[in-house]
Amino acid sequence: MSTVNRFEHLRALYMARPVILAPMEDVTDLVFRRLCRGVGADLCVTEFVNVEGLLRGARTALRKIELPPDDQPTVIQIYGSDPARLAEAAEVSAAAGPTAIDINCGCWVPKIAARGAGAGWLRDPGAMVAMAKMVVARLPTMPVTVKTRIGWGPESEMPIVELARRLEEVGVQALTVHCRTAKQGHDGPAVWEWARKAREVVKMPVIVNGDVRSASDAARAIAETACEGVMVGRRAIEHPWVFREARSLLDTGVECAPPTPAERIELCKVHLRANVAARGEKHGVAVTRRHLTGYLKGLPGAAILRQRLVVTESLDGNLSLLDEALARIHNAGTMMEAVA
Ligand SMILES: Cc1cc2nc3c(=O)[nH]c(=O)nc-3n(C[C@H](O)[C@H](O)[C@H](O)COP(=O)(O)O)c2cc1C
Repeated sequence: MSTVNRFEHLRALYMARPVILAPMEDVTDLVFRRLCRGVGADLCVTEFVNVEGLLRGARTALRKIELPPDDQPTVIQIYGSDPARLAEAAEVSAAAGPTAIDINCGCWVPKIAARGAGAGWLRDPGAMVAMAKMVVARLPTMPVTVKTRIGWGPESEMPIVELARRLEEVGVQALTVHCRTAKQGHDGPAVWEWARKAREVVKMPVIVNGDVRSASDAARAIAETACEGVMVGRRAIEHPWVFREARSLLDTGVECAPPTPAERIELCKVHLRANVAARGEKHGVAVTRRHLTGYLKGLPGAAILRQRLVVTESLDGNLSLLDEALARIHNAGTMMEAVA
């Protein structure tokens, strides 16, 4: 893709009011990105990648920036506390061919923020802007975006508004605002109002994030903030169909039907198989478990099925339990039809 096209491509993505899969460590790997894209995610972001790990060639970091041709559009997110190292790592990541490079300025976890990385940048907004400027200068052919929070906390007037303006000035192409302070972690409500205020002072796209849990939340967040799009994190872990539901509501004004029991069971099977192929049987089955409770929610007999899945380590065992559950649901449905 030519330089101009990369920037235009990103702009076009944001023009279409995207519903974006949030970066989530240990969650938004290639398997989960493919799965979410399959149910409507318009854009995905990798797990955050440690710049030091990447620059010393650590296997985990290199795996995180691997983007096969079907894994597009995907943004690679990096984090670190040293501007020069961030710029260097951004260049390495750009070679993997992402849609953009995103700089994580929002991770509140103490071992990261206390070292000046992630949300640590919010303690010195001027330094964040200077760092972003350095990364942008290093990547003339690749858009650079920033994901951050509204402030460190508990400021009375959040720095995000002034920050948005200054980040745009140094060439940042888009901003995602997780509408909490760093101090809040994941507690308390996300205040979308700050994304609206940031949106008002810039021309670059702004994405609103935090507590978007349904199609109607997505529509409301965009309506209330005038942001270009929404980013969904935790809800996608349990209900990835949120992407197609939001897409449908945003495009047509109509929320699409919830997933059928067959779709729910099929997604469990697809996710299990893909994780086992990527990580081996034991680990693949184990990491998929955290999703299954949500995927199976509302199905008749879901509680018992979950109890059985939790103690079943083999892929075949899990698949058989899921097939049996679907057969039982179909049989029950057929019997109801016969009685009616
Ligand atoms: C398990 C988990 C891992 C996360 N990892 C990252 C990350 O690597 N980079 C990042 O910018 N945010 C990360 N976040 C924050 C999310 O991207 C998002 O900003 C936050 O969860 C709020 O959105 P939500 O209310 O839709 O979940 C993580 C969140 C969770 C729950």
